[in-house]
Amino acid sequence: MEEFNYPFKYPNYYKGPGIPIPGEKKIPKAFTPVTINNLKLKNRVVVSPMCQYSCSNNSGLMNDWHLVHYSTFAKGGASLIIFESTAVQKEGRISFADAGIWNDSQIAPMKRICDLIHTFDSYVGMQLAHAGRKASTIPPFLEGSRNSIMPNDPSGNGWQVFGPSPIAYSDYMMVPKEMTKKDIKDTIEAFRQSTIRCIECGFDFIEIHCAHGYLLNQFLSPTSNKRTDEYGGSFENRIRIVLEIIDAVRSVWSRDKALGVRLSCVEWTDDGWNMDETIKFTKVLRELGTIDLIDCSSGGNNHNQKIKVCPMYQVPFADSVKKTLNEKYEKSNVNNKIKVATVGLINHGEEIESILQEDRADIVMCARSFLRNPLFVCQVARELDVEIDHQLQYQRGRESDDRNKQHHNKSSESTTK
Ligand SMILES: Cc1cc2nc3c(=O)[nH]c(=O)nc-3n(C[C@H](O)[C@H](O)[C@H](O)COP(=O)(O)O)c2cc1C
Repeated sequence: MEEFNYPFKYPNYYKGPGIPIPGEKKIPKAFTPVTINNLKLKNRVVVSPMCQYSCSNNSGLMNDWHLVHYSTFAKGGASLIIFESTAVQKEGRISFADAGIWNDSQIAPMKRICDLIHTFDSYVGMQLAHAGRKASTIPPFLEGSRNSIMPNDPSGNGWQVFGPSPIAYSDYMMVPKEMTKKDIKDTIEAFRQSTIRCIECGFDFIEIHCAHGYLLNQFLSPTSNKRTDEYGGSFENRIRIVLEIIDAVRSVWSRDKALGVRLSCVEWTDDGWNMDETIKFTKVLRELGTIDLIDCSSGGNNHNQKIKVCPMYQVPFADSVKKTLNEKYEKSNVNNKIKVATVGLINHGEEIESILQEDRADIVMCARSFLRNPLFVCQVARELDVEIDHQLQYQRGRESDDRNKQHHNKSSESTTK
């Protein structure tokens, strides 16, 4: 935590927001540390990436909105906060208001937020993304939401979009231009360049966005990828671009830094990417040995998807991936320590705890719960009946006032004046 130069020390019981106070008898698994490669997260409740569509003037620059939005989660004790889908190329934005990391001017405003988050002892992650055929749309909370903005739109807020094949996502979205091999090469290089910028910003974690129907998901899926070259057709060809991007990112993001992928484990259609392919891909990633986290989401690549939504509906995907990774695997050079994250309609402490206790995932990511309550981690602690530290200035807000008093008494004995 940032030292405020008080002339007295912090109470010695104080460990920082999101950490159980000493003396708690039974610590729920949600509040035990977990490691992703070199990162030791202080708890297992992570802020899932959430687009904010809040950058001005087509700049991709983060601003005060992002500073307040992200740092509040850190103040509330989230162990890792993953930034929104951030475009590695300008044409890879979902909308004109997306955040970007395609040029150096975008480093300083992001670094400012990373630095602030670090003062709360939270880690900060970047989700590197390219929207592919789902780029150039109207942000979801504005009129006309999600429709394409055509390149010739008088507003100047549209552009030609790219994808593996010239197949539009839906009737109200643009037909993408099929990427040439040079376009593919340039995009891979853009992921590498963006990673270098991530290092300058001070990110602790990078997640490569391969989910929700964006560019890399479009390459993975046989419904959106009809290419006949080495980037389409067979499973091995469809995953090629992702593996090349992982290699490009890793060429600059050293092996001891945490790197993950977010997958749409199923497409929710009969003919799309399915769980068998996710398991096959998990095995490829295990063999590759350079990925530390598989973040299991689903859907978003098919306008005709039929999703059966219910609480924790995506947990079975993480469970299967985790079971695959837990299988005995006799290879000396492989990374057997890949962690698994689950996400999607997990809104209560009991749900989070049951997932972790049953070893169905190592980490639980939550999105909308953090929008409803940016101090969601404190809510989870209350629901699981464990006392965690709040940010010092907010200690008076803790519900268990008596225990609070006790700790004040104890600390006054041991605090150096
Ligand atoms: C406002 C909003 C923006 C989102 N933006 C992203 C994003 O940038 N990248 C991503 O992978 N998922 C994104 N998602 C999906 C969430 O990360 C999460 O997977 C999904 O909301 C399900 O989790 P939840 O039920 O806890 O909200 C977004 C969700 C919301 C609500």
